[in-house]
Amino acid sequence: MTIPTPHISATSKDQIAKTVLMPGDPLRAKFIADNFLENVEQFNETRGMLGYTGYYKGKRVSVMGSGMGIPSSMIYYNELFNFYDVDCIIRVGTAGSMQEDVKLHDIVIATSACSESSINDNLFGNIHFSSTPNFELLMKAYNKSIDLGYTTHCGQVHSSDQFYSEMEPKVFENLRKYGILCVEMESYGLFMAARKHGKKGLGIFTISDSLIENLADSAENRQKSYTNMMELALEVAED
Ligand code: HPA
Repeated sequence: MTIPTPHISATSKDQIAKTVLMPGDPLRAKFIADNFLENVEQFNETRGMLGYTGYYKGKRVSVMGSGMGIPSSMIYYNELFNFYDVDCIIRVGTAGSMQEDVKLHDIVIATSACSESSINDNLFGNIHFSSTPNFELLMKAYNKSIDLGYTTHCGQVHSSDQFYSEMEPKVFENLRKYGILCVEMESYGLFMAARKHGKKGLGIFTISDSLIENLADSAENRQKSYTNMMELALEVAED
C-alpha cells in the first residue's frame, strides 16, 4: 500500500510529525490544535477523523482522532506507523476508574493493558501476550506529571471491547483485586501496533467517570483536567 492510505489523505509523509497525539474524539484533536499548537496545517478529514500538524513550544507535533475502540483506532495506528513513518503515538483519553483511590480528574499512565480483544489470537500460541508501552516515554511522562503537580497513577488498564459491558461481577471484582486501575477502549491495540512496527506507544488518561462510585462534575472542571493531560502529552512528545 502507498500513501495516501484508504483512511488518511495526507499525500506526503512530511505532513505528519514524528509524534502523534491521539484522542478518540476528532473534535478533541481539533481542540488541541486550536488551543496548543501554532502554524497549524490540517492533513486529514477523511471520515471526519480530523488530523493536524503544528508546533508546540517550537516542537513539531501532530494530533489526530482515532475513533472509539480497538478496531477503529488500530486502522490509524497501523497506517501512521507503517505508511507515514510516525515514530511515536501517545493516546490521550478518558477512562472509568475501577479503584477507590483513583479519583475523578486524576491522571493515569498505563504501564500495561489487558483486554478480551481477539487481536492477538493465534499470534503467540497459548501464550498470553502482555501489551506494554515504551518504557522511556512512560518514565518521562510519569516524572513530568509529578513535576506538574498532577495526582498520577501508573498501572495496568483494561482496554474493553464494550462500553456497555455485561461483565460477570466476579470477573469485575478479580480485575479490581489484581490492581486494574481503570477501563478505556484502545491502548491494548496501540501498544500491540507499536511493538509490531518497532515504534513507541504510550497511553495517558484522565479519569472521567467511575465504575464503582456515582461521580459527577462541572463541565469546567472536566475541561481543565483534560487540558492538563493534553499539556502533559505535548511536553512528553519527541520531534
Ligand atoms: N468504559 C470504557 N471506556 C471508558 C469508560 C468506561 O466506563 N469511561 C471512559 N472511557
